[in-house]
Amino acid sequence: MISLQLAVIAYLFAPIHALSHSGASWINLQRLPEAPSGPTVVDAATPSFPVFTFTQPLDHFSDTGFTWEQRFWVSDRHFKAGGPVIILDSGESSGTARLPYMDTGIVDILANATGGLGVVLEHRYYGQSIPVQNFTTDSMRWLNLDQALADSANFMANVKFANISQDLTAPGTPWIYYGGSYAGARSAHMKIRYPDLVFGAIASSGVTYATVVDWQYYDIIRQFAPADCVQQIETTVSDVDNLIENPSTAHTIKALFGLPNVTHNQDVVSLISGPLGAWQDKNWDPAVNSASFDNFCAFLGSPTSKTVEIAKGIHVNNATVTYAAYINRTVSSRCSTTRTQDDCFGSFNASSYQATDLSQTWRAWQFQVCTQWGFLMTAPPAGHPRIISKLLDLDYASLICKFAFPPGAHFAVPPQPDVAAVNALGGLNVAADRLAIIDGQEDPWRPNTPHSDIARKRPDTAARPFKLIPSAVHHYDENGLADHTAEPDNIRTIHAEEVAFVLEWLKDFKPPST
Ligand SMILES: *[C@@H]1O[C@H](CO)[C@@H](O)[C@H](O)[C@H]1NC(C)=O
Ligand SMILES: *[C@@H]1O[C@H](CO)[C@@H](O)[C@H](O)[C@H]1NC(C)=O
Ligand SMILES: *[C@@H]1O[C@H](CO)[C@@H](O)[C@H](O)[C@H]1NC(C)=O
Ligand SMILES: *[C@@H]1O[C@H](CO)[C@@H](O)[C@H](O)[C@H]1NC(C)=O
Ligand SMILES: *[C@@H]1O[C@H](CO)[C@@H](O)[C@H](O)[C@H]1NC(C)=O
Ligand SMILES: *[C@@H]1O[C@H](CO)[C@@H](O)[C@H](O)[C@H]1NC(C)=O
Ligand SMILES: *[C@@H]1O[C@H](CO)[C@@H](O)[C@H](O)[C@H]1NC(C)=O
Repeated sequence: MISLQLAVIAYLFAPIHALSHSGASWINLQRLPEAPSGPTVVDAATPSFPVFTFTQPLDHFSDTGFTWEQRFWVSDRHFKAGGPVIILDSGESSGTARLPYMDTGIVDILANATGGLGVVLEHRYYGQSIPVQNFTTDSMRWLNLDQALADSANFMANVKFANISQDLTAPGTPWIYYGGSYAGARSAHMKIRYPDLVFGAIASSGVTYATVVDWQYYDIIRQFAPADCVQQIETTVSDVDNLIENPSTAHTIKALFGLPNVTHNQDVVSLISGPLGAWQDKNWDPAVNSASFDNFCAFLGSPTSKTVEIAKGIHVNNATVTYAAYINRTVSSRCSTTRTQDDCFGSFNASSYQATDLSQTWRAWQFQVCTQWGFLMTAPPAGHPRIISKLLDLDYASLICKFAFPPGAHFAVPPQPDVAAVNALGGLNVAADRLAIIDGQEDPWRPNTPHSDIARKRPDTAARPFKLIPSAVHHYDENGLADHTAEPDNIRTIHAEEVAFVLEWLKDFKPPST
């Protein structure tokens, strides 16, 4: 029986369903009280499935003597003897956030089609699968690509499911590994690293190509957001960049955005680009869609040539005045009068990021960013059109890595993320038989997937499905409605294709001879 619990998610630009945001500015915003008139999203009803734990070693490669409990959830509603296991990797979030995918989403769809057992597996250092007592740099040293992949392999090869008498471990049973976003990269990586355990894998919006600098993220938004909105943003960014570096006009433009006392110009322009992060939270599924980006664009209105004199002799386009009012309302006004604006919005105070207790959950993904994954968001190269300020450079984006993770006695974060460790598993060229690559055309993470514009073109075959969902943002195939016939055409199509190729793959399964 499924009991339903309604979760209301307090929301500003909250990254609940997509690859997590990172960076000091982002962390600062999460700490502010709720915007008084901020939009609210009612999250999908969270289904409940029985939860279990599996004992994992802290270190798979050298014996520390320590173990921890990894959470997982099981759905046996479609299971028939002889069926596969459909496992969803919950990536950099609590596993509970992924349970809807086992109720009406992709896990349920594939389990129903195959007589499979559904499983959601939580990732080390997220949710309640925490192997350590605190999040110091030293304590985080077991959070890396190799350890986390080894967790999944160990689980697949050794798990025993309650009330199921058969041995369903890999490779005796075919396992289909699914992940979206970071977990999508992991899905591809599992197929490459553990081909004998992972029979088939689906990497949805899988960011297999790690890059230190990521300016392409905002460039996708520039290309696919409504043209009027993009023009309003470009006009504002240009006005702000022109005025903020000149000491005689800096105060006026910062005050227009309600940020007169923020010392560093980079913090001001970073806050101004904040609303853009909501693009990736768009979803076709109304239960989880964020209207935040659409509301922002509606607020900005249509381009005009009208200018406004904001102080004697200082003119800006009307777009800039409107954008400033939006930032003042949704961001600046949330700093309590008992704090300074630098306290609320500054990124240059190392002591703001020193707390290492387990409530500092932002540290886990930020650590992965700083050590191996990168994706540090910056302005594009000079001359390229842009919707964020040219002041947003790599030094600024990297500050948090130095402040949050000072060197420990056993581990130091590298000067730059070691993206080569990720890309050694294939990067843009990652490929294997029975590895499906599924992406969204309008996904700001697409440049980090094999559907990047700079990746080699490849055919779409049953053995190596390679599918781009039109008019889609981030892992749009992961969601499903209770009534699948009510899903939009592009989603029904991709779901049907996924069912078809997984059934096709399973025809080839032969248990290994013992
Ligand atoms: C399960 O699959 C059957 C056969 O394709 C289909 O008729 C049914 O609607 C599916 N049920 C769910 C819950 O997806
Ligand atoms: C973090 O945890 C480790 C291991 O339990 C402990 O040795 C260390 O003192 C802790 N550090 C902090 C700052 O809590
Ligand atoms: C296993 O089966 C027993 C007996 O039917 C039941 O009481 C128990 O809740 C089941 N456990 C799980 C985890 O499904
Ligand atoms: C910003 O908002 C506050 C109240 O929310 C208001 O008092 C102030 O005048 C606004 N500032 C600007 C520059 O619009
Ligand atoms: C900015 O600082 C001035 C001088 O300390 C203070 O009077 C003013 O209230 C501050 N404004 C904001 C929005 O913090
Ligand atoms: C200028 O922007 C304001 C909102 O800030 C809007 O009400 C007004 O209509 C705009 N004027 C023009 C000519 O677009
Ligand atoms: C830096 O942050 C700490 C802790 O939040 C605070 O006590 C201190 O006053 C801040 N320093 C400056 C220069 O703002």
